[in-house]
Amino acid sequence: AITSVTGRRVLDSRGNPTVEVDVELADGSLGRAAVPSGASTGAREAVELRDGDPARWHGRGVDRAVRHVGTELAAAVIGRDAEDQAGLDAALVAADGTATRSRLGANAILGVSLASAKAAAAAHRLPLYRYLGGAGARLLPVPMMNIVNGGAHADNPLDFQEFMVAPVGAETFAEAVRMGSEIFHSLRRDLLAAGHSTGVGDEGGFAPALRTAEEALDFVMTAVERAGYRPGADVGLVMDPATSEFFRDGVYDYTGEGVRRTPAEQVDYLAGLIDAYPVLSVEDPMAEDDLEGWRELTARVGSRCQLTGDDVFCTNEALLREGIDSGVANSVLVKVNQVGTLTEALATVSAAHRAGYTAVMSHRSGETEDTTIADLAVATGCGQIKTGSLSRSDRTAKYNQLIRIEEQLGGSARFAGAEALRRRDQ
Ligand code: PGA
Ligand code: ZN
Repeated sequence: AITSVTGRRVLDSRGNPTVEVDVELADGSLGRAAVPSGASTGAREAVELRDGDPARWHGRGVDRAVRHVGTELAAAVIGRDAEDQAGLDAALVAADGTATRSRLGANAILGVSLASAKAAAAAHRLPLYRYLGGAGARLLPVPMMNIVNGGAHADNPLDFQEFMVAPVGAETFAEAVRMGSEIFHSLRRDLLAAGHSTGVGDEGGFAPALRTAEEALDFVMTAVERAGYRPGADVGLVMDPATSEFFRDGVYDYTGEGVRRTPAEQVDYLAGLIDAYPVLSVEDPMAEDDLEGWRELTARVGSRCQLTGDDVFCTNEALLREGIDSGVANSVLVKVNQVGTLTEALATVSAAHRAGYTAVMSHRSGETEDTTIADLAVATGCGQIKTGSLSRSDRTAKYNQLIRIEEQLGGSARFAGAEALRRRDQ
């Protein structure tokens, strides 16, 4: 049973405060989890509670959320069985009492939820992926490595937020990491040679002053080739344009490029990029408020490209179900803090898989050294993880944890490969 719940304030990768929680059980087992934080958040995400006092942390303090961990949320779970994750998460949600988790804070709730799961795993002396996923959890995910940053994650003019490489042709996860690292360093050389900055953005990818997606994709393609890999066969391209950030008054407003695209033009533009480059997956190609555009693009390219809903679904099972019923996307991004509890995030993955949708486990742009999502990717068998570039310890920590998991699984480990990005009913 849970005997103590402690919250504290720690720093995230952007130097902002975030919530960390320790949960202790009667047998002395300890679980610890730190909560991440987004910058390009969906409108229907669970609410991250911030103090809003401009005199402290520029308004971004989490003192109230930390207090809620030690008071109301602790009271809701102390004495409970940490193995009953569903019951425990329901108690946390009930203690908050709001649909959006705005009273006690989704950041406070998620910290307790994840730390409890880790304490339960520790009590069983099992690694988290094994405790949650059972003996069958042995699929290592394809990493989607974000090597060019733009949008809300960098100060450059690039309108698209993320340009990623997915080493689908690797034999093992460890080899995928090597390939990603080699491409990352090839890209760095090419950017330097072209006179660009090689400073990195929030997710550890380079943030050169490029203006168009095509320029970024060309640099990435060249880097893949110069590292010795075949674009498409060995390494696929993945993008997260994060279009909700620049969809204004019904138009996609590309301020860096200096172009506006109507939803119909946006569909044509994306379909053109998917045809011109070996793009395996695009996340948020259409905005959360442009469901019509989402349906059009899904009908047009959904059979040959993974289309992942982030802002449009917010890891929320009800929103995902609406999307499944109306032909929006064919994949869901899973960010545990968008919904607030582990139980709900796992339910969203199950709902996706049952409908033939794929699921991609994901970090946030504000992260910590916490590696829970690496274990969740293996536990759910979703076969894909998006956790940033090959630099910044907040990103590499997840890759390093997956390297350890693969080693621990030994001969039974399997690397997901390109198959993981295909709809399960195809
Ligand atoms: P965020 O962005 O964590 O800043 O919200 C990540 C994403 O859009 O996928
Ligand atoms: Zn996204």
